[in-house]
Amino acid sequence: MGLGDGLTIRVPGDKSITQRALILGAMAHGESRIGAAPRGADPLATANALRALGVPIHGLDGPATAPIRIEGPGPRRWRQPRSSVDLHNSGTGARLLAGALAAQPLSVVLRGDESLSRRPMRRIAEPLRRMGATVEHLEGGGVLPMRVAGGALREIRHDGRVASAQVKSAILLAATGAGVPVEVREPRRSRDHGERMLEAMGVQLREGWQDGAWSVRIDAPPGRLAPLDMDVPGDFSSASFLLAWAVLAGQTPRLTIRGVGLNPTRTGFLAVLKRMGVEAEAAERGDAGGEPYGDLLVAAPERGLRAVAVGGEEVTGMIDEVPILAVLAARAEGVTRITGARELRVKESDRLAALAVNLRRIGVRVKELPDGLEIDGTSRALAGRVECFRDHRIAMAFGVLGAAPGCDIPVDDPGVADVSFPGFWRLLERVGDEARGRDRSARSTKKEQSRCPVVAIDGSAGAGKSTTAAAVAARLGFRHLDSGAIYRAVTLALLDSASGAGEVESISTAELEALGIDVHWGDAGMEVRIRGERAREEDLRAHRVTAAVSRVSAVPAVRAHLLELQRSAAEGPGLVAEGRDMGTVVFPEAALKVYLDADPRERARRRILQQGGAEPDAAEVEAEVARLRARDARDSTRVVAPLLKAADAQRLDTTDLDPETQIERIVQLVARALKQARSPLPAP
Ligand code: DC
Repeated sequence: MGLGDGLTIRVPGDKSITQRALILGAMAHGESRIGAAPRGADPLATANALRALGVPIHGLDGPATAPIRIEGPGPRRWRQPRSSVDLHNSGTGARLLAGALAAQPLSVVLRGDESLSRRPMRRIAEPLRRMGATVEHLEGGGVLPMRVAGGALREIRHDGRVASAQVKSAILLAATGAGVPVEVREPRRSRDHGERMLEAMGVQLREGWQDGAWSVRIDAPPGRLAPLDMDVPGDFSSASFLLAWAVLAGQTPRLTIRGVGLNPTRTGFLAVLKRMGVEAEAAERGDAGGEPYGDLLVAAPERGLRAVAVGGEEVTGMIDEVPILAVLAARAEGVTRITGARELRVKESDRLAALAVNLRRIGVRVKELPDGLEIDGTSRALAGRVECFRDHRIAMAFGVLGAAPGCDIPVDDPGVADVSFPGFWRLLERVGDEARGRDRSARSTKKEQSRCPVVAIDGSAGAGKSTTAAAVAARLGFRHLDSGAIYRAVTLALLDSASGAGEVESISTAELEALGIDVHWGDAGMEVRIRGERAREEDLRAHRVTAAVSRVSAVPAVRAHLLELQRSAAEGPGLVAEGRDMGTVVFPEAALKVYLDADPRERARRRILQQGGAEPDAAEVEAEVARLRARDARDSTRVVAPLLKAADAQRLDTTDLDPETQIERIVQLVARALKQARSPLPAP
């Protein structure tokens, strides 16, 4: 298989590695740099917990391309937090932090959200107590909330009953933090991200099989840990969903995923794919923080998928990939048997139960075993709604299956994918579109646009896009499509409907139809209608609509429903289409795409003036800048239709431009784009 022929993508950074890097950076002495760290919910929860413990962490609010910097205060220098420390949904964060806290002379209560508070903590608490820390489950049951009071620890040897990278890391962190030797043994070899990072920070480890157990020893922990300087590789588990997509997509070209972590304790899924008849390869390219990384290549099997048996040691190296393996098994020939995966019952959900229930719901025969599943593959059409149980991997696994030919599988909670893979649904859609070539609707768009030039305008809040788009349209005699007004009309109609907007995430096509949203073009421009009645501007801009519209517009079914309506606006001499996804989804072939931006202070100033305020002073501007930044971060990281500049959009910085100049610039850009479109470069 060669690189370059077919699709090439990247996936977000590995969150296990990121969370370990954050905690180890906070234990180190000096400044650590963690590049390409994903800003998903779990890493943010861990970083915020460390901040609450007095560790300065910078760059978290920046884009994922900007590095995170951690000022490691050195050994046992964390501060007593004022209240309990919340790890939200991060199991890795809670368990590893418990280990690191065992070495700190503090008394800290760790808590988590409802789902994390059901996950077992006793397996961490017990060895930490033997080391000399006080660990109490404040509400019993061996779960969170849990108080960890640490300090001087003693050496132990831990014989784990199950292989668990989190337990192993917690004990290694406790020992390293306290400066005492330790040995951790486990029946199978679990992931070794912690060990690799500790080595990169100057800790000497001795590892190997001994009397049937995998043993990791630290004999002489150093007084201080050297800071880390690394770029987080792409998450193999996230990549595995796309590998599976390529396998299921049928006539797909080859898929290459670049820069993925290839730690051998994580890549067990590749061997299983090969046994299923898939051509899959990993090409190592380098090393970061002790972690190997490289490119993954996969091609769909020519003769269909074969069922496999997976169990024992092999499952440990692909435990997170069991959900995606289960959906592949649904499409394989024969019965796939997965065993040795009991651990999955205590993940974000009881994954074995969640997989069994959902596979049955879509028409797959499946038997649930105490520690696994037996799945009878089928080539019949699979359809039905699946329940995610707040579990990102369940959502993504069925999302991948739903994207395969002959499957119609809506998931009830797509947003949960955000936990480990922000942008998952967008990427799935993109690879799908690319693999199919240009899909039907894009072709119809192209036809319409050959008659009607489209200018797509988008931009950050306060950059002046609405007024600019309207004025440009007026100057050119084009229609002005205000897509935000259409999303507002849907929201208004929903709020006024019997069911309200409460369950919009599960809205059906029929219910969307029934809202009766339409657009009419008259002398005064665009008019949005709700069941034939013009929606009034003041109703569309009412506070209750503004408060609900971002949730409504994040629902994929709503967006899909509005697609053709928006495309039908491209008629007449030309169209200025304003809003979120105009240049990426609705009019991907727009003649010109403009992305308006401005210095945050200027954007803040304009917003205050726009809302009817007087010329603001510096403090008012700063306060608005903070609100804008928070909104930018939310807007650009949301899963569905995030605010992002289209790759081929021209960025126009309007900071120093008065409105008239701004409009003039865009009109000139339009003229140039239209001229180029009329006279394409002669063929060589
Ligand atoms: O631009 P506006 O404030 O009227 O937009 C209303 C909401 O709709 C805002 O939350 C962004 C969202 N929106 C969207 O998701 N996609 C669009 N094409 C336009 C607006």
